[in-house]
Amino acid sequence: MMTKAAAVAVVLVMAAAMAAEAMGGELKVGYYEKSCKGVENVVKYHVAKAIKANRKNGAALVRLIFHDCFVRGCDASVLLDPTPENPSTEKTAPINIGLAAFELIDEIKAAVEERCPGTVSCSDILIYAAHDASSLLSNGHVTFPVLAGRLDGVHSHAAEAQQDLPDSTFTIAQLIHNFARKNFTVEELVILSGAHAVGVGHCSSLRARLTAPPTQILPAYRGLLARKCAAGPDPLVPNNIRDEDKAAVAAAIPGFVPKLRKVNDFLDNSYYHNNLARIVTFNSDWELLTEKEALGHVKEYAENGTLWDEDFSDSLVKLSKLPMPHGSQGEIRKQCRYVNHH
Ligand code: HEM
Repeated sequence: MMTKAAAVAVVLVMAAAMAAEAMGGELKVGYYEKSCKGVENVVKYHVAKAIKANRKNGAALVRLIFHDCFVRGCDASVLLDPTPENPSTEKTAPINIGLAAFELIDEIKAAVEERCPGTVSCSDILIYAAHDASSLLSNGHVTFPVLAGRLDGVHSHAAEAQQDLPDSTFTIAQLIHNFARKNFTVEELVILSGAHAVGVGHCSSLRARLTAPPTQILPAYRGLLARKCAAGPDPLVPNNIRDEDKAAVAAAIPGFVPKLRKVNDFLDNSYYHNNLARIVTFNSDWELLTEKEALGHVKEYAENGTLWDEDFSDSLVKLSKLPMPHGSQGEIRKQCRYVNHH
């Protein structure tokens, strides 16, 4: 029989091995096959329900994967609520304006905890959910095998989010630099920016566009945005003109009316068509036209929607592999908004 000390040692070695596996980049498809069979379906059920109720929930999840993984890796640090001990978590950063779907993640986590307590990390749930959202919003065209086995981080700082995430006022040089810091190429910058085919933005995020010259924004679209933005202190506007209300488009750009879609927030390559027509919301979107390589890719993805679906899927996988800082502690959070023992 094993002595107590030996048993403790075995447990410690196993725990260290599990932590190393989770943090050492050894993510795998079907990670929860034995420990929480069917977890993927639980997540999918809740995401599908939320998207059916409002497709904006899907867009919020697609943004969340980016804002989580670009800051400290995919560790669900973006989900942590401010507390008296740590009042400035990532979600309080100005760059994270408009981030949403936190309640949806809570709902999914609660369902998963009921099925398999203490087993599935919030960071994995977030990636599963972002996958399902992009798949559902694209009618299944964006899809990828979801790797899992991450741990949840215990740190979250607004200053890091502010430093690591790109701002909508960035120039192309700043955008390229920002993505290069995380080992993403110019092509991947262009591919991932295509996510702006869905969702919304605050007028404060596109203020500079309201005075940009016609070489940078279609004047009729600028007028449409200006009218919308005059309607309140900081209203929301759709990222994709296809999701604008018909009357506003008919008044500003009548030629665009036939292109409006019945189903809003459809994830496809329309962002690139809009961009070439100078009908995009953020300065950072337009900036992609100002550099030769980036422009080439914008044209490439405008022409080939299937290629974009595939490359966007691959880029989301790459995003989902961004690791926590070397030597970070991790845990399986009980609640996604709080570290354990807070
Ligand atoms: C390339 C640099 C990027 C910049 C500068 C940028 C900036 C922004 C800004 C300013 C907003 C609106 C926030 C608000 O005012 O509420 C937004 C929304 C959004 N972004 Fe990005 N973004 C970038 C890349 C990405 C990437 C890589 C993804 C995902 C792969 C993404 C997905 C989204 C989505 C889906 C929304 C809409 C969210 C919603 O409706 O809830 N963005 N982005």
